[in-house]
Amino acid sequence: MSVLQENDPYVKDMKQVETAALFRQILRIMEELRQGVKKPYKEVIDVTSGDPQKTGMKPLSFVRQILAACLYPQLINDNKLPVDVRQRAQRLLGECPGGSVGSYSATRGVPDIVQRVSEYISRRDGGAWSNPENIFISPGSQWSLANIFQILVNTEASTRTGILTPVPGYNTSILSIKEQGAVPVPYYLDEEQGWELHMEELHRALASAKGVCNPVALYIVNPGNPSGQVQSRQSIQEVIQFAFEKRLFILADEVYQDTVYGEKSEFVSYKRVLAEMGPPFSDTVELASFHSASKGMLGECGLRCGYVELVNLDPAVMKYIYTQFSKDSCAPVLGQIALDVMANPPQPGDPSYPLYIEETQHIRTTLVHNVNRAFTVFNSLPGLTCQPGEGGAFLFPRLDLPPRAIQKAKEAGLGPDTFYCVNLLEDAGVFARPGAEYGQKEGTHHIRICIMTPPDIMEELLRRVTSFHTQLMKDFS
Ligand SMILES: Cc1ncc(COP(=O)(O)O)c(C=O)c1O
Repeated sequence: MSVLQENDPYVKDMKQVETAALFRQILRIMEELRQGVKKPYKEVIDVTSGDPQKTGMKPLSFVRQILAACLYPQLINDNKLPVDVRQRAQRLLGECPGGSVGSYSATRGVPDIVQRVSEYISRRDGGAWSNPENIFISPGSQWSLANIFQILVNTEASTRTGILTPVPGYNTSILSIKEQGAVPVPYYLDEEQGWELHMEELHRALASAKGVCNPVALYIVNPGNPSGQVQSRQSIQEVIQFAFEKRLFILADEVYQDTVYGEKSEFVSYKRVLAEMGPPFSDTVELASFHSASKGMLGECGLRCGYVELVNLDPAVMKYIYTQFSKDSCAPVLGQIALDVMANPPQPGDPSYPLYIEETQHIRTTLVHNVNRAFTVFNSLPGLTCQPGEGGAFLFPRLDLPPRAIQKAKEAGLGPDTFYCVNLLEDAGVFARPGAEYGQKEGTHHIRICIMTPPDIMEELLRRVTSFHTQLMKDFS
C-alpha cells in the first residue's frame, strides 16, 4: 500500500491532481518539440501564471541597472550607467550590512528600505500615516500571507478556523489556508456584474459557516486574480464596515495595484479607505495589506520580494509576528532593492526618468491593447463569454461547451474546463489553466489567461484559441 492515499489532505483535491497531469503534459510536449516531432505549432504559448517575464515582457532598465551596479560595484564608477543609477546603487550599498548585497539584512528588511516603503505607502494613500514598525519585507507576498494565515488559525480549538475567500480566487492562497488546517468559506463574485463583490453575498457566506467553522478573517484580492475586477471605494467602505461589525481581520491582497486599466477604475487601498473612515473603524479594524515586487510594472517574480503592512494589531501579537517572521533570516536583498525602486521610481529631471516613463508607458499600452483585443475576440466566439478586465494580469473567460463535449470530458475523467485546457495545449500549443483551480459557481466552467504578454504573442494566442475553439464547437455540436 502506498504511503499517500487518495483521501489524504494533500491528494484529495482532485483539481490539483488534474492540474498536475497538465504539467506533465506540457513537459512531454516540450520534449517532443525539442526532438523535432511535428506539431501544428513550433512553440507553446504559456499563459498559466502572472509572471510577465516568463511570457516575454522586458524588465525595466532602471531596476536592472541598479541591480547590476549593486551586484558588481565596479559599475558604480562606469559612466556607461546613468549618474542617478550609480548614485542610487552607491546609497543602497551603503545601507546594506557590510556594504554588500551578499549579506543578510535585518529580519523586517533593510531599515532604510522599510522606511522608504512606509513613505511610499503614505504618498499612495493621500498622506495617511504608515508606521515603518508595522511593515515586514518578506521573500514574496505569498510568504507573508501564509505566515499571517498561520497566526490567525487556532489549531487547538475544537471548531476549525474559517477564512472567507473569494470565488474565483487565487488558488495558492486557498491551498495555504487549507494547509494551516483552516476552512476557506467561499463568497462568490458576481460574474454577470463584472465579478463584483456584493455585501449580501458576504452575509450569506458568513451565515453558511455557522456550525461548520469559526470565521475570523476575510481574504480579499483587489484587483482580482483571476477575475480582473477592481473594487470601488464605496465597496471597500462597505467591506470594512462589515469586518468591523462581524469582528473579522481583513487580509487585503493588493499585489496587482499598479496594473489597473479599466477606463472608470481606480485603485484605492484598503489602508487608505480605513484611515479615511476615521474612528471607530480606523483604530479598531485589523488589516494586513500585501504588495509585491513580482507584479505591476516591475514583474520581478524571481527576485522574491514583497511586503505586508499590519494595522491595528495588538502589540503582543506584533511581537509574536516578529518572531514568526524571523524564522527565515530575511528577504533576498536584491529583491529588497527592486522593491525600493518600485517604491521610489525615477522622478522628473532625473537622467533615467525619460526611459523609465517610456518603458512603463509601453507596458500600460500593451496591457490595455491585450485586454481589449482578448475581450473582443473571446466574446465573438460562440460558447465563450468574457467579462471586461479592469485590472490585474488575467482574464477569466467562461466556457459554455456543447453537452457532447461535457460527456467526452466525463469519459476522460476530467472536468470540462480541464478537458478544454488539455486539448487546447495538445492541439494548439496554448497552455492555460482550468477555472476549477480557482473555484467557480457549480455548473460553470472557465479558463484563466495571463494577458501580460508582448502584443504579437497575444495576437498569436488569440489566433490559436479562435481556430481551436471553432473546431471544438463544430466537432461536438
Ligand atoms: C493575488 C496574488 N497574491 C500573491 C501572489 C504572490 O506574489 P509573490 O510573488 O509576491 O509571492 C500572486 C502571484 O501570482 C497573486 O496572484
